[in-house]
Amino acid sequence: MSCPVGLHDGSQLGDEAGMLYGDYLMLDKILTAQRPLGEHNGAPVHDEHLFIITHQAYELWFKQVIWELDSIRKIFSSIVDESQTLDIVKRLNRVVLILKVLVDQVMILETMTPLDFMEFRNYLRPASGFQSLQFRLLENKLGVTQELRVKYNQNYAKVFDHDKEAIKRIEQSEREASLKDLVQSWLERTPGLEEEGFNFWGKYQKSVEGSLNEEREKANREKVETLRKYKLNELEKRVEVYQSIFRPEIHNALLSRGERRFSHKALQGAIMITFYRDEPRFSQPHQILTLLMDIDSLITKWRYNHMLMVQRMIGSSQLGTGGSSGYHYLRSTLSDRYKVFVDLFNLSTFLVPRAYIPVLDETIKSHLCYWGPMQKIDNGVIEKSRDIKENGKSTLLDSI
Ligand code: HEM
Repeated sequence: MSCPVGLHDGSQLGDEAGMLYGDYLMLDKILTAQRPLGEHNGAPVHDEHLFIITHQAYELWFKQVIWELDSIRKIFSSIVDESQTLDIVKRLNRVVLILKVLVDQVMILETMTPLDFMEFRNYLRPASGFQSLQFRLLENKLGVTQELRVKYNQNYAKVFDHDKEAIKRIEQSEREASLKDLVQSWLERTPGLEEEGFNFWGKYQKSVEGSLNEEREKANREKVETLRKYKLNELEKRVEVYQSIFRPEIHNALLSRGERRFSHKALQGAIMITFYRDEPRFSQPHQILTLLMDIDSLITKWRYNHMLMVQRMIGSSQLGTGGSSGYHYLRSTLSDRYKVFVDLFNLSTFLVPRAYIPVLDETIKSHLCYWGPMQKIDNGVIEKSRDIKENGKSTLLDSI
């Protein structure tokens, strides 16, 4: 194997190649870090080795996911121009692929039977995945908030009381802008939302009204009275659903109840990107939104697979080694409260048929097709240089 350090081409290494490989990867540490505790008739319990390796593999991947998330958050927190959105897409995609591996990895541990697990389970107490610092950091950095956690989980940080460094990292992860916060402010700057410009929101609202009025007229033409009443009733329900995005006070009430996560403006940006994803400048933003949903989906799938595995191993009425109600606690974490980007999933509720999507005027169309260079100006805001020069003012938001 060639030297992973990259300083040698392998041929220079001779017999030492294996040693350098091990040194670089610190295999002496990693491969001696498995310390089974259980024993059966004086011998180690065979499956405990798998149990330890699986958890360690998870923790290593968690570390990589956190590494990627931190770098993505860093890009989002500085000004994002198109050249950087590609890096975001690449890294989010990497996170998605890792999470897919993590979801499937549960199956390997399921080759252990509950009886095998019983051989060493008691030695584990009070150790539990509930004490995984990296899992909590990952949740916090994505944007799972304290108040949205289920009750038992709201005290999650207590288990780290003995570890000052862990508490410091937890507090920092709660304090810092999460990926959700950063995506939100990025979406709020979506070009085309400005009321004095294209005013997407105003146009979209009119389109929805037009589409609903047409349906109302159709329903009113229905001759069978029960059917007419049914159709009109269904339509009123849809009107109410749309009210929840057109009336900011309703949106904000849902926000405070945790049923929505994005600000009103960010939601508008997400809807606009979804409609016009075929425009060149919205193509990568649309990929980003899709990848964010993938992340939520895969974590939910992991939670679900893990919960089923727990039921298989310890049933539904035994407490977890970490002291929770076990299966029932884990089942409660499957709710939408843990889906950070739940608003993106729910966008489909607000789509309108293609014919009703507001047509882009020439100005916004040329903005969204723009592929030219971005220029950094004095105050650090990136603006489209040609536009500023041509129009004498900037109609474009700083970036997308
Ligand atoms: C036989 C296999 C496993 C069993 C029986 C099991 C059991 C449990 C139980 C009962 C809980 C709830 C907390 C408690 O009271 O202990 C829990 C939480 C957790 N486990 Fe596992 N687990 C297993 C494998 C794994 C693996 C392989 C991972 C990978 C890292 C993992 C990570 C976690 C995490 C992160 C939590 C916290 C979840 C949350 O609070 O939302 N578990 N586990």
